[in-house]
Amino acid sequence: MIQQIPLVDVKAQYAPLIPELEERFSAVLESGRFIFGPEVEAFEHEAAAYLGVPHAIGVANGTDALVIALEAMGIGAGDEVICPSFTFYATAEAIARAGATPVFADIDPVTLNLDPADVADRITPRTKAIMPVHLFGRPAPLAELAALGLPLIEDAAQAFGAAGVAGTGVCSTFSFFPTKNLFALGDGGLVACRDDDVAERVRMLRFHGSRDKQTFELVGTNSRLDAIQAAALRIFLPHLEGWNEGRREGAARYAELGLGEAVDLPLDEPGHVYHMYVVRSPDRALFSAALNEAGISSASYYVTPLHLQPAMRYLGYEPGSLPETERAAAENLALPLWGTIGVDVQEQVVAAVLAAARARTRTGTGDSVLAPVP
Ligand SMILES: Cc1ncc(COP(=O)(O)O)c(C=O)c1O
Repeated sequence: MIQQIPLVDVKAQYAPLIPELEERFSAVLESGRFIFGPEVEAFEHEAAAYLGVPHAIGVANGTDALVIALEAMGIGAGDEVICPSFTFYATAEAIARAGATPVFADIDPVTLNLDPADVADRITPRTKAIMPVHLFGRPAPLAELAALGLPLIEDAAQAFGAAGVAGTGVCSTFSFFPTKNLFALGDGGLVACRDDDVAERVRMLRFHGSRDKQTFELVGTNSRLDAIQAAALRIFLPHLEGWNEGRREGAARYAELGLGEAVDLPLDEPGHVYHMYVVRSPDRALFSAALNEAGISSASYYVTPLHLQPAMRYLGYEPGSLPETERAAAENLALPLWGTIGVDVQEQVVAAVLAAARARTRTGTGDSVLAPVP
């Protein structure tokens, strides 16, 4: 079935800006500067000012941002970093790539973010940092996590513009993958940093561990934000607040339209920027089938959470070891949402979900066969 309604309509957000993008891209082409240079520097300054941090350093993607942040903080072999398992694989992969051991903590079932009490139980003498993820655009409980006394590295890939994000972590990392709240037209990433020395190492690590391209003091990597992506990001950044507001309005509208009669809605919080609009239901297969039938995209995230992924088997987690994570993995369903989503689209989504719920009621609860809707 061809999906007429996507999960995220990235083009609808940037389409009005295409003339401005073309103009700026022409200027980059004229300049002949594609690596570092004025566009990247200007974006780094503008991003730092927006986030309220002293340093913002462009890198090639959000995964490199995490690895580089960990390495810049001196975290590596023999160290443990506590992170959620209900997140994109890159979170734990980055810890392992830095040579450290990911330690998975369970989540709060309401916020889907790290549960500080469970994190506290997993701290050992080898724990060097905590890596909260601001999942689906909802700020993680930074104050409670910081109170545990360890440095934080915020994986803020999904949360540019969310309240308090990048205000606590030594480093906070962002991805500009095209579906993110602030996005590039390809890959891109950023490390926001509140410590001068760590920031200096981040700058070196993204360019082979060198300050001057002559002397190589660290073993780093090649991970740069392209000038052309920085140019696009500079055009998009002033629109971020509007897009995030559009996402918040869309989330409120789903509740007003009565979606909560069929599924559990995400708890609303003022600082949440709804990178994804994620509902919960033990019957999510029924709802995703009904949406698919109506030509509407939906998605379930992290269906196999990280502690049960094949590459993480060496850590020894068994099924059932993180019960809230596993329940969220089995029940979550993301519905269409983006910064410029229209009421008509949302009405169609809600109609399909409510019709499926009514059909379920007629066939009895727990029956995941979709009865025909008259
Ligand atoms: C939570 C999280 N961390 C890290 C990443 C990695 O970012 P990227 O795809 O830019 O490498 C992503 C996104 O894709 C993400 O959602």
